Amino acid sequence: MDEASKPTSDAAAQTQWEISAEIGAIGADYGQQLARGAAPEIQPRVDYPPYRSSVLRHPTKSLHHADPETIELFSPAFGHHDVNVLESDLTIQHNGEPQGERIRVQGRVLDGNGRPVAGQLVEIWQANAAGRYIHKRDQHPAPIDPNFTGVGRCITGADGSYAFTTIKPGAYPWKNHLNAWRPAHIHFSLFGTDFTQRIVTQMYFPGDQLFPLDPIYQSIVDQDARDRLVAVYDHEVTSPEWSLGYNWDIVLTGSKRTWTENEALGAEGDDHE
Ligand SMILES: [Fe+2]
Repeated sequence: MDEASKPTSDAAAQTQWEISAEIGAIGADYGQQLARGAAPEIQPRVDYPPYRSSVLRHPTKSLHHADPETIELFSPAFGHHDVNVLESDLTIQHNGEPQGERIRVQGRVLDGNGRPVAGQLVEIWQANAAGRYIHKRDQHPAPIDPNFTGVGRCITGADGSYAFTTIKPGAYPWKNHLNAWRPAHIHFSLFGTDFTQRIVTQMYFPGDQLFPLDPIYQSIVDQDARDRLVAVYDHEVTSPEWSLGYNWDIVLTGSKRTWTENEALGAEGDDHE
């Protein structure tokens, strides 16, 4: 093979251990910052080199400020009657039962003062039990489940509560580096009251062994902020002979807010990562 035809180095050639070393170094540096009295970072770093594509996607210019009232002229409108209560059950969208571990995920949407956020459109999307998205860009060799699409939505109640019945998603590989796997997660979108308020985030499951290895999860360098993305197993939410239960509250503002992807900052949005 002559020099010109050799494959050029690319990010996917890097091993998990090289990525983990980078994650470790950034984490140690953050620990020193905290020890020197720096404020905790509660949002993800948009330029987080172990998450390879973040380096190319993060903004280099200040954000464009939109006029919220102008945006309102173009934003979609929906009413409570537009969202059927059955849309919160992802296990009944086809003729048969999907494969996998049936779960209920419930919680409350709260503002920074702990007040419930009622009437909020909550949308979720996720991989199936085998870690495969229905999305055509997901071509890794895990089976598609004909009885599982992986999308659902609901509107929060007067107490800010939401609940979904679904299947526990599987971990899946992605192309960040060699042998890169995402921890099991469910993508969440909260619409707010207008387009400019929409936020997107991910919910994880407790005890996942992939947490320390995942550059997306680790791009939130603060452990407390990361912990707020992890649901809590709740035996009171578990139904006998039916489903396991998890609780996960979403806090929209304040120092305890849930980490969210800022689409304007070019972080992961509707991508299936
Ligand atoms: Fe995903």
